[in-house]
Amino acid sequence: MSCVVAIGAQWGDEGKAKMIDYFTPGSDIIVRYQGGANAGHTVVVKDKKYVFHLIPSGILHKGKICIIGNGVVLDPDQLSKEVDSLKDERLDVKSRLLISDSAHLILPYHKAMDEALEEFRSNKIGTTNRGIGPCYSDKCMRIGIRAGDVMNMDLLREKLDFSLKIKNLQLEKIHGKPTFKFDDIMDIIERFKDNFGDMIKNTQGYLHNAVRDGKKILLEGAQGYALDIDHGTYPYVTSSNPTIGGALLGTGLNSFNVTEVVGITKAYITRVGEGPFPTEDKGEEGERLRLNGREFGATTGRPRRCGWFDVELLKQSCSINGITSIALTKLDILQGFEKIKVSTGYKIDGKKVAYFPSSILNRVEPVYEELEGWDEDVTKCRKFSDLPKNARKYVNFLEKSIGVKIKILSVGPSRENTFEKKG
Ligand code: IMP
Repeated sequence: MSCVVAIGAQWGDEGKAKMIDYFTPGSDIIVRYQGGANAGHTVVVKDKKYVFHLIPSGILHKGKICIIGNGVVLDPDQLSKEVDSLKDERLDVKSRLLISDSAHLILPYHKAMDEALEEFRSNKIGTTNRGIGPCYSDKCMRIGIRAGDVMNMDLLREKLDFSLKIKNLQLEKIHGKPTFKFDDIMDIIERFKDNFGDMIKNTQGYLHNAVRDGKKILLEGAQGYALDIDHGTYPYVTSSNPTIGGALLGTGLNSFNVTEVVGITKAYITRVGEGPFPTEDKGEEGERLRLNGREFGATTGRPRRCGWFDVELLKQSCSINGITSIALTKLDILQGFEKIKVSTGYKIDGKKVAYFPSSILNRVEPVYEELEGWDEDVTKCRKFSDLPKNARKYVNFLEKSIGVKIKILSVGPSRENTFEKKG
């Protein structure tokens, strides 16, 4: 039995989908554990691009079981779209996809609330407007609708009636927005039941049986460490826990089940939406990273903010998540930079700070070291020794500074552009 957790170690968009696709052949079951359709996971297989927002990208591998875990907030319409988009692939999606009965449903009023609240705020979060925060709020307020509720439609109607009354009051009275009709929401839920009712299971029990049967399980996170609602740069965060705690809560597995935690990390760093970002480069080089790295959101199309590798952030991410190895992605994007900057620490008011101060991150000044760049194309490299000398130096420098082994390198978008570091 093994249970590998793949976690975004920065601000999301680290190339998780590609790495999860790489780990999938060695897994029997792939579980998405938190977030919702705010995530956009892009996988390229033989030049064909797939973007998943909800379904684990492991679905592209025949025979693998994919689970939408209890920690996920699930948009029924988005799920339908994704399943439809895979119709032509002859992948037998429906018999391999399980949905936790405890996953909460995102309904249109959640998206409307997300938009209304963002409009109302003076400090914008830059939310993806996918209804994530309002759906998790309903979960905490105990007024949410869960996938498993479709097993008792009479009770579900009562729950929706109560929930919708509150939402409509808020939308109308506080935000002056249009309200939602009960029957329209019920139509969505009925469709969800018809299309996906058979896939709804007690996935916690299913996973514990799988552990007992010695299966290999891969837990797939969305977003990343610094967007975690507890450990990230609050309030500029998402409304769930992409970190290791979320992997356990969002699946029902326990810490003794986990055998490896892989931190997925870009060779530079990006952030979408608002919030502090000490190593952001707003100049020409940041723009060059954005263009070379095609750094535009897979969900919203927004340009991502780009900057230099942040060692303190990674060190903290490794501690919080118990990261046992690192997968370093997008090394190819750094080709052609004469110098590559790495922030090895921070200063606040001229004094060195040796940790990641998430609550006062807007006050830190990064302390940079500069490394020599390289001009060679690394996308054809298939082992560490194939990389140009300065690229190897860069990777070794990061590994030493972070203090955790870089086990896997990704030097291009396809499955083929990935290899183990070894040495
Ligand atoms: P929300 O989760 O849609 O409410 O967005 C909250 C913050 O998290 C915003 O700054 C988003 O840009 C950011 N965010 C949400 N999902 C992702 C993701 O998958 N990648 C990167 N940033 C994300």
